[in-house]
Parts: sequence; C-alpha cells; structure tokens
Amino acid sequence: MTFDPMGTTAVVTGASSGFGLEFAHRLAERGADLVLVARRADRLEALAKELSQRYGTVCTVVPLDLSVPDAATSLAATLARKKISVATLINNAGFGTHGFVSDGDAARLDAEVAVNVAAIVSLTRAFLPGMIAAANGALVNVASTAAFQPIPRMAVYGATKAFVLSFTQALWWEAKGTGVKVIALCPGPAATEFEDVAKNGDAMFGRVETAEEVVAAAFRALDRRDPSPVVITRAANALNAKMEGFVPRRTLVNMVARLGSPKKGAPRGTK
Ligand SMILES: NC(=O)c1ccc[n+]([C@@H]2O[C@H](COP(=O)([O-])OP(=O)(O)OC[C@H]3O[C@@H](n4cnc5c(N)ncnc54)[C@H](OP(=O)(O)O)[C@@H]3O)[C@@H](O)[C@H]2O)c1
Repeated sequence: MTFDPMGTTAVVTGASSGFGLEFAHRLAERGADLVLVARRADRLEALAKELSQRYGTVCTVVPLDLSVPDAATSLAATLARKKISVATLINNAGFGTHGFVSDGDAARLDAEVAVNVAAIVSLTRAFLPGMIAAANGALVNVASTAAFQPIPRMAVYGATKAFVLSFTQALWWEAKGTGVKVIALCPGPAATEFEDVAKNGDAMFGRVETAEEVVAAAFRALDRRDPSPVVITRAANALNAKMEGFVPRRTLVNMVARLGSPKKGAPRGTK
C-alpha cells in the first residue's frame, strides 16, 4: 500500500452520497482526517458522527453549493482560518441532466457546468499548491466513461466529463515528481443517487457497478507507485472507451444515442 493518508487531511466533495460517501469511509479507514463538502448538511453531520465513532476521524463539515462561483475560495478561506492543510482532494461532486439541450432548464445546465467543470478547476487551483509543497497526497478528479464520447440526450454531462478527463491528464504530467498522485477516475454506470438526480426514467444499460467497486479501483491505482493518469473501473468499460478511436464520428454518436436510451432511440421528429 503506497497511498497512506494517515494523519493528513482529505477534502471530499459530494460526500453526502454515492462515491463521495464511500471515499470518505475508505479514507477514514486509512487514518485520514476529512473535510466533508456537499449541500445537504444533515447528511454530512451524520457521516461525520459515524466516522468519528467508527475510526476516530476528525471531520470538518462544510455545507457548500459548488455551483456558486466563489465556492472554492470560500472553502479555502474556511480551511485556512481553521489551520487545516489539505493533502488529498477528491473532486467528486457532480451531476447529470437527461434530455435534449434545446428543452433543458437553462439554469440547471449552467449549474452542471459550474459544478462538474468550474468548481474542479477552482478547487484544484486552491489546494494543489499546498499539496505540492507538502509533497504527498493525491488528487482524484471523478470523470466518467461518458468522457470518451459525445452523449446525445446528456450532451452537457458528456462534455463536462471530457473536460475533466483532459484537464486531469495534463495535471498528471504537471504534478510529476512532486509526490502528489493525480488520477482521473472513470466509472461506468453505477448504483448511486446519480440517475434520480439526472431524472433519467430509463433503466441503465450494461452492468451497473457499486460505489464500493468504483472507489476500490481508485485506491488500487493510488496504491501504485506511479499510477496511470486515467483509471477506468472495469475492463469492459476500458474496451468501450477505446472504441472511440476506431469508429467514424457519425456512427459513434448514432450508436451512443441508441445504446443510451432504447426507449427514446430515435432523434427528435422521427418517432
Ligand atoms: N453513478 C454513476 O453512474 C456515475 C458514473 C460515472 C461518473 N459519475 C460521477 O461520479 C460523481 C459522484 O456521483 P454519484 O454517482 O456518487 O452521484 P450521487 O449519489 O448523486 O452523488 C453526487 C454528490 O454530488 C453532490 N453535489 C451535487 N451537486 C452539488 C452542488 N451544487 N454543490 C455541492 N455538492 C453537490 C451531492 O451532494 P448534495 O446533493 O448534498 O449537494 C452528492 O453528494 C459525479 O461527478 C458523477 O458525475 C457517476
């Protein structure tokens, strides 16, 4: 085990549910103290209590809406005031929106870009210098297998995750030799609250992963001396991701549209 966060502090965004909740448990189990970030304060408080009882974790709960432009600055200021320095940052908070962009709620789509993209950049910029100065820890940006191809009816979501994937691979290079491990975690469809939030009435296609499996894949990567920048959580997902390079664009987009939602496979106007 080469990723040892014992005695250091990790920030987990989106800790109130799904992968973030699981990251919090596994980091606490390895002896990290935690900063728990999400909007639902009641859930974060309950988690903090549980982790403190179970592992003796010191938790700092910071209820925050990451769609607000100065959220990262405000979090950094709060932690500086409390003299908490961050060794590990799990940029996990995010959500998707199902449906045609032209029918979508404009404010919700803006918030999706703000949380999935802008907040990740701002939080990284806020905490990475300290992490590099301390020469340890890890940066995990949660992307998705959605990052590897355009997703009709989840166009904004796919594009935000493509950003996260590209951004994180570049950061992986920039952090080389600093002692900070950087990975883009790319899970496939997983059983969390994600689909309820995305308001996707259709069943997920393919095998659905558990949060435990996804987070275990991240820790396996971090436990390597030199993790590769992109961590795809299952072999079948990795194969799908490779497909992007071989299939003509038109075919790829049509295929993803059909696979993603069998009930709504036809483009607008052709049903
Ligand atoms: N589940 C999947 O199929 C899947 C697959 C690939 C990638 N992912 C990615 O994995 C990450 C975690 O998602 P999940 O599957 O664990 O879904 P989830 O159970 O819905 O959890 C999402 C988390 O993000 C937080 N969040 C959402 N909007 C926020 C905001 N404005 N400010 C602060 N926190 C916010 C939520 O907390 P509050 O609501 O309390 O604020 C929640 O803790 C996301 O980035 C998602 O895109 C998910």
